[in-house]
Amino acid sequence: MHYFNFKKGNLYCENLKVKDLASKFDTPLYVYSAKTILGHFSKLKNAFSTLKPLICYSVKANSNLSLLKLLISQGSGLDIVSGGELYRAKKVKCSAKKIVYASVGKTDIEIRDAVKYGILMFNIESLPELERVNKISKELKKKTKVALRFNPDVKPGTHAYITTGKKETKFGMDEETVKSIFASRAKYSNLSIVGIHMHIGSQITKGEPFVKTFKKANRVIRELKRRGVKLEYLNIGGGLGIVYDNEKPQTAKEFAKKVLPLLKESGLKIVLEPGRFIVGNAGILVTKVIYLKETDQKNFIIVDAAMNDLSRPSLYSAYHKIISLAKAGSKKAIKSADVVGPVCESGDFLGKERKISVKSDGLIAVLGAGAYGFSMSSNYNSRPRVAEVLVKNKKAYLIRKRENYQDLIKGEIVI
Ligand code: LLP
Repeated sequence: MHYFNFKKGNLYCENLKVKDLASKFDTPLYVYSAKTILGHFSKLKNAFSTLKPLICYSVKANSNLSLLKLLISQGSGLDIVSGGELYRAKKVKCSAKKIVYASVGKTDIEIRDAVKYGILMFNIESLPELERVNKISKELKKKTKVALRFNPDVKPGTHAYITTGKKETKFGMDEETVKSIFASRAKYSNLSIVGIHMHIGSQITKGEPFVKTFKKANRVIRELKRRGVKLEYLNIGGGLGIVYDNEKPQTAKEFAKKVLPLLKESGLKIVLEPGRFIVGNAGILVTKVIYLKETDQKNFIIVDAAMNDLSRPSLYSAYHKIISLAKAGSKKAIKSADVVGPVCESGDFLGKERKISVKSDGLIAVLGAGAYGFSMSSNYNSRPRVAEVLVKNKKAYLIRKRENYQDLIKGEIVI
């Protein structure tokens, strides 16, 4: 479900013509639809309503303050992974009691800030981290709630770089370690170890890996209960896949149907950490064609956005649909061409062998760019980061200014 549709041959975001947004805010430009974001949030909320879970939107997917604020206004909490994300959460006044914090490498400063802020829970990824959070909590005279991230050794069926639930990855702890920590929980006087956390990977389109994971979790939970451990939370992470190409990902409802019985069986409060599912299809990257370059070997549509603006195609060979803002009409689609940016490497592409009808100066949109698009963008090739616009209540709001050349060198020191 999304609100990017063609009307009379022109692409619209909700009620606004994307072409007009490009004229007003220039390109490259990220355009988001608030209705789409809220729609996805409610879909998930409704699908799981019988459990009344805490939904903590995963900030890393798209960390723009306006999007965070929008989601918080609907009751969302936040899943953070760094001090910088905690800073953002504070800026949008997210209730501390709705913040969960994962990451394999939390530093002392990051831990201290989060303990002081009184976040709901740390998701602990290793024994040394557990000890560190206990030590810092003691120094601050606080009792901190934590969940242990359980690595279930389940294959999520996604790209290797975003697989996190296999035992050879750096994430979480195996069953034995989790159990032994619970057995020695009295040692950690400044911690309440109250939950199990899991996140097996991202862009998972099938229910089966989740089902396997939750079955394993329930087994561990049952055993812990038998041993007298009192648990409060089961955090099932994020990972729900979306449509980029012709995937048929499970809907929130189908997902819930498969996993609700298992989650109920756990008897615990459920936390969800969706990122991509909420914002992925709520954003597009609008870019302008600079040149059409034809060679004997290949044709290239050279556009003003590049791998620094949207790195997913280069990094994960990810497929994003690319369309012309104006529907083809009588124009002929150009022969198959690679859509590439100006960055100086051959890995700089947004799409390969696409058939798109455009001319020089024409506008095209890369779809499904709302998640891990802007948030992973960089200044590589000294390219200022692009502007972001949110369409909300029939209006377009600039929610991040385009950077300029001064921004590029801010903080640099010439000696
Ligand atoms: N919870 C934890 C602990 C995570 O590490 C992640 C994502 C999420 C939740 C949210 O996952 P989602 O619902 O968005 O799948 N840059 C990659 C994706 C990296 C995902 C990292 N962790 C990409 O562009 O595909």
